[in-house]
Amino acid sequence: MTKRSRKTLMIWALSVLSLVVTAIAYSFLPEEIPMWWNFHGTVLRYAEKNNIWLIASLAAVFAVLFTVLPLIDPRNKNYQRFMEYYETFTLVMVVAGDILTGVVISESFRPGKIEVGQLVVLIAGLICMVMGNLMPKIKSNYFIGIRNPWTLSDPDIWNRTHRIGGRIFFIFGLCVTVWALMPVWPLLIYLVSGVALVAITVVPYLYSYWCFRQNQKKGKLADQQEEESWSPVMKNLLERRSVRAYTDQMPSHELLEQIVLAGQFAPSGKNLQEWHFVVVENPEVLHRLEELLGEELGRPGYHFYGAPVIILCANKKGARNAMADCSAALQNMMLAAHDLGLGTCWINQFRDVWGNAKVEAYLAQLGLPEGYEVQCSTIVGYPAQSPAAPARKPGTVTYVK
Ligand SMILES: Cc1cc2nc3c(=O)[nH]c(=O)nc-3n(C[C@H](O)[C@H](O)[C@H](O)COP(=O)(O)O)c2cc1C
Repeated sequence: MTKRSRKTLMIWALSVLSLVVTAIAYSFLPEEIPMWWNFHGTVLRYAEKNNIWLIASLAAVFAVLFTVLPLIDPRNKNYQRFMEYYETFTLVMVVAGDILTGVVISESFRPGKIEVGQLVVLIAGLICMVMGNLMPKIKSNYFIGIRNPWTLSDPDIWNRTHRIGGRIFFIFGLCVTVWALMPVWPLLIYLVSGVALVAITVVPYLYSYWCFRQNQKKGKLADQQEEESWSPVMKNLLERRSVRAYTDQMPSHELLEQIVLAGQFAPSGKNLQEWHFVVVENPEVLHRLEELLGEELGRPGYHFYGAPVIILCANKKGARNAMADCSAALQNMMLAAHDLGLGTCWINQFRDVWGNAKVEAYLAQLGLPEGYEVQCSTIVGYPAQSPAAPARKPGTVTYVK
């Protein structure tokens, strides 16, 4: 089972835990249960015991809500780029729901055993710290993060604002956590938390507007307006980047099949389609390939930037259009992968070991037909970075009208 499916399973298991525990405990609960506390742990309000279901369903509500949001977001493709972190946040919220249920049940049976006010503040502080850590990884979307006209209009402003916002959230969470653990100097902590709270709401807004104004001054707005008129294909083409850092998340086999299909639909000289693709999804094989290239190229520690998949694009040895056909296919696959929220990077080292008996033997073992050699390859995975586009050289076009 992959790390991600383990996390998904945990989310669903923990989301029903509160309901199951409540169902078991329900008949033993007193008729009135405590529902509101102040920070010092004094109960402010009791409620009828059926109100426990409101608290007990919190974890399940979080699990369902955070599962549905990516499905209905018009920018749902972007979620794939931070899904690992998004699921961590969902898990944290579900666990928080479970803890709250546990607290209410425990306090109903044995009042005064838990410092409830302090515990709730502690959980809130820890959640803010987790959010602060995750914020820089969130990509542009309509539901999660700092959403305003400026962040939503430009991925660069989004990323910069979330980097700043993440730090402020983390500091705010840390203040709240420290205060919950050591409720001393309440006035000072109130002051710091208050300032941080204002900073959370105001600074990212002002900062994103400031970034927008800066871009406007640099003329980026004109580019952007032009960008808005571009077709999705053109946007995909301009936004693809060589990605050199990846998360552990494995792209599904279905996505890889779509990517290879895009490769198979590339043009080929005389429509010969003499290519052969080898898609390596197996981590041991992938590591063996890294090792083998490292050994044969004299580059110990050589790696594929932590990507979980590599697609090799081979063609008949000596074929006139071998490299051209494979390159066209590779580019198609890289663009398709980008469109699916995946990152890629051209890996050129296989052509540096052409004719190497050890590499050829291993590739044959993987299923590469005899007489074929790998022309080019691309790694594939979920990006752990969003590199800026390297500047394009001027003076590389001549229009003959
Ligand atoms: C023929 C070719 C070979 C490349 N080989 C490698 C490589 O072995 N390793 C690597 O990290 N990037 C490689 N790249 C990626 C380029 O460095 C990258 O495309 C370039 O820096 C422009 O960045 P961009 O792809 O983000 O626009 C290769 C690109 C091409 C077209």
